Amino acid sequence: FEVPIAINEPVKNYAPGSPERKEVLDMYKKMYDSTVEVPLFINGEEVKTGDTATMSPPHEHKHTLGTFHKASKKNIEEAISTSLEARKNWAIMPWEQRAGIFLRAAELIAGPYRAKINAATMLGQSKNIYQAEIDSACELIDFLRFNVQYMTEIYAEQPESTSAAWNRIEYRPLEGFVYAITPFNFTAIAGNLPTSAALMGNVVVWKPSDSQVYSAKVILDIFREAGVPAGVINMVMGDPVMITDTVLASPDFSGIHFTGSTTVFKDIWQKIGNNIHNYKTYPRIVGETGGKDFIVAHKTANPKQVATAIARGAFEFQGQKCSAASRCYISESIWDAVENDLVADINSFKMGSPENMENFITAVIHEGSFDKLASYIDQAKKDKKAKIIVGGNYDKSKGYFIEPTVIVTEDPNYKTMSTELFGPVVTIYVFKDKNWNETLKLVDETGIYALTGAVFSEDRYALDEAVKALENAAGNFYINDKPTGAVVGQQPFGGARASGTNDKAGSKLNLYRWISPRMVKETF
Ligand code: ALA
Repeated sequence: FEVPIAINEPVKNYAPGSPERKEVLDMYKKMYDSTVEVPLFINGEEVKTGDTATMSPPHEHKHTLGTFHKASKKNIEEAISTSLEARKNWAIMPWEQRAGIFLRAAELIAGPYRAKINAATMLGQSKNIYQAEIDSACELIDFLRFNVQYMTEIYAEQPESTSAAWNRIEYRPLEGFVYAITPFNFTAIAGNLPTSAALMGNVVVWKPSDSQVYSAKVILDIFREAGVPAGVINMVMGDPVMITDTVLASPDFSGIHFTGSTTVFKDIWQKIGNNIHNYKTYPRIVGETGGKDFIVAHKTANPKQVATAIARGAFEFQGQKCSAASRCYISESIWDAVENDLVADINSFKMGSPENMENFITAVIHEGSFDKLASYIDQAKKDKKAKIIVGGNYDKSKGYFIEPTVIVTEDPNYKTMSTELFGPVVTIYVFKDKNWNETLKLVDETGIYALTGAVFSEDRYALDEAVKALENAAGNFYINDKPTGAVVGQQPFGGARASGTNDKAGSKLNLYRWISPRMVKETF
């Protein structure tokens, strides 16, 4: 059988007066005016524990969107045992049936649920409509469609046979269950991590971020409507340490699909190591973690292009992308021109609630993030080594608003050049034109991460030097483009070093991690 060829979902533009703008704003208002209760979802049943937490829009933290229920240890053990029960049928279900479910989910998002998932992402995570559309609609649809296509390509890979022996590979799921931990910043990642493992025949215990439960519930309901059977994807919220420790204590834990912080991932890796004698199999460990992503601009770079790349790359979704540009190295002779354009771009950004579609910048995710960012900004205001050239103000009276802030430093090792801040703050170091090669070395050696990076130049020799010197500095490397906005099917995404296991989300490489093939040789 062949599946439909995957195509990227076209991005709608939400122009004033367009039907999609009206639809999403009507949905936003309806959802804002009502409240939801999000239960756990275990073995196809909604489970209300009575132990709840409140959900609020980051841009309006006194408003309540509803509550979600938190799991006990017993709930997690039930999620594990019932998922293993569900595995008995799911693991042997013909792949065409699994493909049908996830292709149907993609079409439900593309059509009837598009406004709802976008409005939920705007309300729950404070994305503006354009960021919500490319994330919770297009990227999630693309993950589902492309993964189905990649699955069939993997299944078609078979060894040679002879007239005496038929050699065949059976692409079996892992023996056990997969644990998915998903972040707040991409609704698409929250949808992709459980479904990519489930598509390959695995059952999943999924823990969304506490700050993304509102849109996670919309995704879950879409998966249910698309026909994911009971017990195949179980959603649990609550104390992350308790949930993770309970999951990792199970002998049937067979893999983790993670996106989140480097510290948490390393801690989980260590715990898996500590438990290794208890597991039936070696668990697959797949994670995409932190970043301190760079832009480096040669003296031949186009200043306007560089300024636009910084403005977009650093401040889309308030810089809360693991891919966001957060340290920039600009050649001295183009800096004045870059600075003029960058400051003008940033001054043109409007900040406020996402229901006003003019607003490019909205709030950061929660008070903890706001306070941390504010303290770095305050420190930069005091430090002699740092100068804030635009932004620097913040206000949390209504929502967690931080102005897009640009720090210029004379010290390439200044702390905001290497520490991940995960917010709308970018730091810039201006280097002497003649120091191109030293600067490339500096870019490579600063910090611990290797997620994304971009180089700008009109000189092929300079580009070639950067490509070579930064060979290990970024899993996604961009030439003359911003380092954010990877598109599924075009730029598979993932980083190395402390940024992750580089198993490229939205690729065959990733799906291979969720199978444990059996090689069968049959002689005649
Ligand atoms: N995949 C996301 C991007 O490229 C994180 O921006």
